[in-house]
Amino acid sequence: MASVLDLTGVSVIRGGGAILDKVSWTVNDDERWVILGPNGAGKTTMLQIAAALIHPTSGTATILDEAVGKADLFELRTRIGFASTALARRIPAKETVLNVVLTAAWAVTGRWNETYDDVDIERAQRVLAEWKLDHLEKRRFGDLSDGEQKRVQIARAVMTDPELMLLDEPAASLDLGAREELLHILGGYASSPTAPAIVMVTHHVEEIPRGFTHALVLSRGSIAAAGPLAEVITSEVLGSAFGLDLVVEERDGRYWARAA
Ligand SMILES: Nc1ncnc2c1ncn2[C@@H]1O[C@H](COP(=O)(O)OP(=O)(O)OP(=O)(O)O)[C@@H](O)[C@H]1O
Ligand SMILES: [Mg+2]
Repeated sequence: MASVLDLTGVSVIRGGGAILDKVSWTVNDDERWVILGPNGAGKTTMLQIAAALIHPTSGTATILDEAVGKADLFELRTRIGFASTALARRIPAKETVLNVVLTAAWAVTGRWNETYDDVDIERAQRVLAEWKLDHLEKRRFGDLSDGEQKRVQIARAVMTDPELMLLDEPAASLDLGAREELLHILGGYASSPTAPAIVMVTHHVEEIPRGFTHALVLSRGSIAAAGPLAEVITSEVLGSAFGLDLVVEERDGRYWARAA
């Protein structure tokens, strides 16, 4: 067991206020975390720190044994798989699905003048098949449905065989069938013995895939709870974080929540 992400006293100050306030958190290579918390709690900001996209205002972030601030961030980012709506917005609509996945090898979003080896192309095609996207290989990214686009983003994150995978609301806006299909594939991926450490932000406990091990609840920039799923995804912890009287239940590794 080795740590892939280590935050110590991390604060992010914007506009005079702390978006993250002295957060300390460690993710080990055999753990798959879900981050929950109200809108504006700082979840996306945490993921941006973990992706080495932003620096802490104070405190230290060590990602894959590299101290952010000292490391070559471009090199470090190729070892991290990242999927978010903000990143998806930067993908040119006319780019083919194959290229969206392939360009992850260079950590760029649009195909330009980079050269790719046959092994890169074969790998992209294999990843597309694993995520049930092979039939869409030649389609334009901008023409895909939301559900298809979400799966392409994850396939892109998987492409470089990352040591740390970060997903910001991968199931948001999906219909029931698309959500369950995504959770099925993601759960299979997370349960595999070769899976990387994963951190996934979500708003709904129903979207926690099987194979996930830990949860962190963020509230107004601070950690309200963090630990094994069974200890954190409870009526008490979530009820208090969201200020609601909640009933949270679990069956066969899936969770659901409703007001009491
Ligand atoms: N550059 C910035 N300047 C000022 N405030 C910012 C900046 N970036 C983020 N914020 C604020 O920081 C807070 C946390 O934002 P963040 O996107 O991390 O929240 P979140 O937990 O991901 O929320 P959501 O569930 O809505 O996605 C929000 O109130 C947001 O408006
Ligand atoms: Mg967010």
